[in-house]
Amino acid sequence: MPRLDFPYVLHGGDYNPEQWPESVWDQDMELMKKAGVNIATLPVFGWGNIQKDEETWDFSWLDKVIEKLHANSIRVCLATATAATPPWVDQKYPDILRTDQDGIKRRHGSRHTFCPCSENFRRLSTNLTRAMADRYGHHPAVLLWHVSNEYGNPCYCDACSAEFRTWLQHRYGSLDEVNHRWNMAFWGQTYTDWSQIEAPQDKAQRNFQGLLIDYDRFQSDAILNCCKAEIEVLREITPDIPITTNMMGTFKALDYHKWAKEMDIISWDSYPARNAEPADIAFRHSLMRGLKEGEPWMLMEQTPSQQNWQAFNSLKRPGIMRLWSYQAMAHGADAIMYFQWRRSPGAQEMFHGAVVEHAAREDARVFQEVATLGKELASLGTQTVGTKVESKVALLFDWENWWAVEYSSGPSIMAKYCDIFLDYFRALFSLGITVDVVSPEADLSGYSAVIAPMLKMVKPGFAANITRFVEAGGYFLTTTFSGIVDETDRAFENGYPGPLADLLGIWVEETDALSPEEQNTVQLGGTSYPCGKLCDRIQLEGAEAIATYGEDFYAGEPALTRKGRAFYHGTWMEAEGLQAALESFLTEAGVSSTIGQSIEGVEAVKRGNLLFLLNHGKVAQLVDINGYKAVDLLTKAPISSSLELQPFGVAILQITP
Ligand code: GLA
Ligand code: ZN
Repeated sequence: MPRLDFPYVLHGGDYNPEQWPESVWDQDMELMKKAGVNIATLPVFGWGNIQKDEETWDFSWLDKVIEKLHANSIRVCLATATAATPPWVDQKYPDILRTDQDGIKRRHGSRHTFCPCSENFRRLSTNLTRAMADRYGHHPAVLLWHVSNEYGNPCYCDACSAEFRTWLQHRYGSLDEVNHRWNMAFWGQTYTDWSQIEAPQDKAQRNFQGLLIDYDRFQSDAILNCCKAEIEVLREITPDIPITTNMMGTFKALDYHKWAKEMDIISWDSYPARNAEPADIAFRHSLMRGLKEGEPWMLMEQTPSQQNWQAFNSLKRPGIMRLWSYQAMAHGADAIMYFQWRRSPGAQEMFHGAVVEHAAREDARVFQEVATLGKELASLGTQTVGTKVESKVALLFDWENWWAVEYSSGPSIMAKYCDIFLDYFRALFSLGITVDVVSPEADLSGYSAVIAPMLKMVKPGFAANITRFVEAGGYFLTTTFSGIVDETDRAFENGYPGPLADLLGIWVEETDALSPEEQNTVQLGGTSYPCGKLCDRIQLEGAEAIATYGEDFYAGEPALTRKGRAFYHGTWMEAEGLQAALESFLTEAGVSSTIGQSIEGVEAVKRGNLLFLLNHGKVAQLVDINGYKAVDLLTKAPISSSLELQPFGVAILQITP
C-alpha cells in the first residue's frame, strides 16, 4: 500500500470552484498563496458538474482549475466525486435511492442518498472513478485520492434485505445457526425460511439484538464495499497514489477499524461543538489515530470559524482555531485542512465558516488567522511531520461493542458507551496522561496498561490475549457491564464477566441501576467518593476488594477489585473517585504523566522528540518542562527549565536529550 510521505505540513481544504465564474478562480489562487494554502480538495460534490448524462462528460472546468492549482504549486487531494448523485442519475435509476430505517424511500435530493446494494450505483460510481483516474491520475499535482465523502447512512430496502440474507448465509452457514445465535426461540420467532429475514425497519423486527448488530455489521460492510469498488479502480490505474476517505470520529454506523484496513492514510473531519471540552476533542483524535497503528493522519476538515448546522453557530474565538489545529498536530495530524475555502453564494452551506467570506477580504479576522497559521506551519518545514505519538496506556474501543451496549434493553438507559469511555479518557487527560485508543484486536504488547471501559461484548480470542498481556507484566482494567455477551449478543453461560472471570477473579452476581437522582459511594483509601448509574454486586473468587460500597443493602461489599494486575471497577464513579482509582492503578503500572505534572487546562503530548504544550485555559500557565532542554519551534527560543503559556497558547518544543 502506498504511503503518504508528507513533504511538509499540509494546509488547505475543500475547494468548490464550480460555483463561481472563472474570473473568481484567479482571485482564489492569489488568496490561497496569501493564506499559505498548499493543498486543495476537489471536486467532492462534482459529479453533476462533470457528467451531464450517461454519455456526456465535461471536464473542461476541472482541467482548468487543476492546471491553475498546479501552476501555483498547490497540490490536489482529488475526490472521486461520487458523494452526491445528480438529478439525472436518481431519475433514471430510482433503485439507487435509499430507504431509511422508518421504511420511507428517499426521493431525489440532498447527498449521500445511495443504497449500498444498488448495482446501478456501484456501476455508475466506479465509472466516474475510472474517468477521474484516467484523466487526472497521472497529473503531477495530484497527491492523494479522497474517495466519496463522509460515508454513512445505512439503507433498509428490499435489495439490502436480500443481500443481508446472503451475508448471513456466508457468516453462519445455516438458518439453525442464525436462529440459535439470535435466540429466535424467544417469543416463538424462529425463522423457518431465509426469506423471512428482513432489514430491521422501525416497524419490523427490532427485538433481537443479535439481528440488529448483524444488520449494522452488514451495512458497514456493504457501504465499505462501495468504497472498495472505487478503491479497486484507483489501485489498478494509480497504484502509487495513496487513498483515503474522510471519517467522522465517533460515528456509530461504520466499524472504522474494518474500514481503516482499506485506507493508506486516515483522515477525519473534526467539528467540536461550542465550548467543546479539550478532552473530548483529544478522545476523537486519539480514536482516529489508533485506527492505523498511530501513523500520522490528516485533519481533512475543520471549520475556520463557525458551522451552519448547529442551533447557535458561535464563532471560534480568536486563537481557538490555531490552538485546535495544533492540538490535532499534537495528536498526530500532518495536515490541517478546512471546510471550506470560500463561502457559497447560495444554498445550504452559504453561512458555514470559510477561509474566504462573501466579501472576500483579506483583512477579515478569519482570513488573517488562517494566513498567520499558514505562515507558522510553513516555517516548521519538515520538523514535525512523520513522527508518532508516545503513549504507554491504551483504551480499547470497539464499534460492535458500542452497538451491543446500546441495543441492550436494561440494565439502564444511562449505559452509554461513549459516555463512560469519555469519563475514563477525561480522567486520564486530567492526570496529564497521553492515551492511545485502539481496537481490542490491536497489538497491545507495547503498552504498560490497558483499560477497557464497558466491554460488554467479548469476542473469541480476547480473553486469552489479555491474559497473556497480564502474565507478561501488563496492567489491565475493565468495568461494570463487561464480559456479558459474545459477538452475537448471547449471554455467557458462566455469567459475568464471562471469559474474563478467571483473569479478574470475580463473579458479578447482580447489577443495580440507579436513577440520575440516586447515588452510592465508593470507600477508597479512607475517602468516600460518589458513584452511580450502575453498581455491581461482586463475589470475590480469587480477587481482593480495593474499595467497598458505602450505602444500600450492599454497603461494605466490593466495589473495586483486583487480582494481581487485573483490576475491575464495579461501578461508574464520578471524576474525583475515578482519578484517584486510576492514579494508583497507573502508578503501580509505572505510567506517569507526560511532563511529570498535571496543570489545569494544559495538555502535553509527545510526538517523537517533540513536546507539544497546549493551554486550553483562559489564564496564562507556567509549565515546568521536567528537566528537558528544548527549543520552541514556533518562537525559535531556547527553553531551559520552564515556560509561560499564554491563554490558548501553544509551544512545540524540540527536545534535546
Ligand atoms: C461535513 C462535510 C462537508 C460539509 C461540512 C459542514 O464534514 O463533509 O461537505 O458539509 O460537513 O460542516
Ligand atoms: Zn438498500
